[in-house]
Amino acid sequence: MQITPNEVVGANVDGIDVATLDDAGFAALERALLQHQLLAVHDQCLTPESFIAFVRQFGPIDLHVLDQYWMDGHPEVYVISNIVENGRPIGNAREGFGWHSDLNYFSNPTAVTVLYALEVPPEGGDTMFADAALAYSALTAEHRESLRKLTVRHSYQLLHASRPWLKLMTPAQVARTPDVFHPLVRRHPAIDREGLYLGDWASVRLQLPDEAEARAAQERLLAHMVQPEFRHVHRWRAGDLVLWDNRTLMHTATEYDRERYRRHIWRSSVRGEVPLGAFDRSSAIDVAGRA
Ligand code: SIN
Repeated sequence: MQITPNEVVGANVDGIDVATLDDAGFAALERALLQHQLLAVHDQCLTPESFIAFVRQFGPIDLHVLDQYWMDGHPEVYVISNIVENGRPIGNAREGFGWHSDLNYFSNPTAVTVLYALEVPPEGGDTMFADAALAYSALTAEHRESLRKLTVRHSYQLLHASRPWLKLMTPAQVARTPDVFHPLVRRHPAIDREGLYLGDWASVRLQLPDEAEARAAQERLLAHMVQPEFRHVHRWRAGDLVLWDNRTLMHTATEYDRERYRRHIWRSSVRGEVPLGAFDRSSAIDVAGRA
């Protein structure tokens, strides 16, 4: 396994086939993920079954709320794509826009996301990552201290309402998505990292007595976090398998010419632990959220 670190965060991995990794190989990859937080494993050739089997090694897979984009016969795979087959979109063409951490609106948000690219545009459609821990550590000690006890409301229903092109939520989808509250400063359960756990005001709301003040403070923190010095841009190649730790990284999809190019990506999300606050130094658990 050849591991080549990126400049800011993450690493490229070559020389492995994730479908045939033995236990020692998987353990080495899991360690590399903890160390680098983001891995781009090149030149993979996966079936839905081998993709799911790989992801399951990190822990239980959480199914996405929007069941209309589950892969037929494989609900563990959420399809991100602008391809239309027989008049029917095979996936969600507008998933992942806006800085976020995956499934943040669940009480146990995603620990690890895995994306696998089958087709990608020759330009655009990159995925950008921001190292929320690096950004947090760059704040003054006084500022960090002032943020440590704050909480944030995360609402899938607000997120859905901000995307009017989506079908109305079904009663089952509504029942699955009550609002949750997570610490603003989230501590990684297995390594010594604390980062800002945030998102856009559209669905993520810093809790302060004054809403206008909360919004302004949140927007300032987000702008700080996504500055180029904390960012890595992943330029996709078909066959890339990209996995990252959502506890202290945030990410966003970026635009491409959907009329001209095809993009087809499989995604699976590994359930994590209930987020630990910076003030909550309770016992560490392992990376997959197992107690
Ligand atoms: C996501 O946010 O899960 C998808 C990112 C992408 O498609 O670039």
